[in-house]
Amino acid sequence: MRILHVVGARPNFMKAAPIIREMARYSNEFQQLLVHTGQHYAPIMSQVFFEELDLPQPDVNLDVGSGSHAWQTAQIMMRFEPVLLDYKPDWIVVYGDVNSTLACSLVSSKLDFKVAHVEAGLRSFDRSMPEEINRLVTDQIAELLFTPSEDADSNLKREGIKLDQVHLVGNVMIDTLVQLMPKAQTNWFQLAPKFPYKRYVLVTLHRPANVDHPAILAEIMSALESVSSEVPVLFPVHPRTKERMKEFGLKPKNPRLILLDPLSYLDFLALQVHAALVLTDSGGIQEETTYLGIPCLTARPNTERPVTITLGTNQLVESNTEALINAMQTKLRAPKEPHSLPPQWDGHTAVRIVRIFLQV
Ligand code: UD1
Repeated sequence: MRILHVVGARPNFMKAAPIIREMARYSNEFQQLLVHTGQHYAPIMSQVFFEELDLPQPDVNLDVGSGSHAWQTAQIMMRFEPVLLDYKPDWIVVYGDVNSTLACSLVSSKLDFKVAHVEAGLRSFDRSMPEEINRLVTDQIAELLFTPSEDADSNLKREGIKLDQVHLVGNVMIDTLVQLMPKAQTNWFQLAPKFPYKRYVLVTLHRPANVDHPAILAEIMSALESVSSEVPVLFPVHPRTKERMKEFGLKPKNPRLILLDPLSYLDFLALQVHAALVLTDSGGIQEETTYLGIPCLTARPNTERPVTITLGTNQLVESNTEALINAMQTKLRAPKEPHSLPPQWDGHTAVRIVRIFLQV
């Protein structure tokens, strides 16, 4: 069976790695081609993940880079088409909800190739988010849909997807976390002297709704300044957010609000494990904190990952100064809340996915 995997942006790499590794164990059954669209290209947003996750180097890099949604999506489509026609895979495997996921799914379905979507069925019900459009379209196109939680199955059923195409397999990103936790602990020994704090808040923000508007980003920064006088705040800054901070002239005044370059997978995991609280707008980090049992605040009005709230440690918060300060202070003072793991978030999702590929 010829499998073509598509990755493009940072959150794709930790989802593809366990599946590629598991398929490689069946070398008589699978021939694999890894295509990187180049949506993320900076070494710290891409190459470092290939090294730490032990991903094979891409067979093809489309070198697309950044641009508007239309430009980026169109470029990926145009550059992907000849690769697809040349390789003629039995299945194209796409991951998550980024523009690369949508672009390659569209090209594949128009040429009558079969698409498998890993992390299918998640819905925020917020169509102002580009990722929601990417999810909806990809799931309508995909012929094989691997879901991380029961809510995703219900969403797909409601949207008319035939349930024999849908497989609840758990969260493949947790496979990577489980596998690399010991290495992250080693990284912690190098990081701990740099950040000699008993407690700290770890922050990541990159959603356009939070960082693209001067007034909203200023409100968030003001909340972080305020909380950092109580507990130090470590903030690895995504390239989009860094550009906006510069453009809006936002600089931290309190030295305990510490801006960092984006971190590698292992460094970020190490800092999550030891954080008193995580504030984020990322999808994956809501899931990782749930697995780790670390309190998490998500600066968004909604989440496509509701199990991180119902079972996990996640709570939504409005992106304004007062709400953020209140929520962070409350969480920092609260005793650890009980939480549980969503079913099948157990480190064996890739095994379940590959078993299904062996049967289709
Ligand atoms: C993308 C995904 C988002 C995901 C996020 C993870 C879409 C629509 N969005 O958002 O779902 O949560 O990745 O990081 O696919 N840039 C660099 N170096 C890079 C990549 C980007 O400097 O390697 C800068 C560029 O200025 C670019 C900006 O970051 O314009 C945004 O990059 P882009 O890939 O368009 O979207 P993200 O915000 O990263």
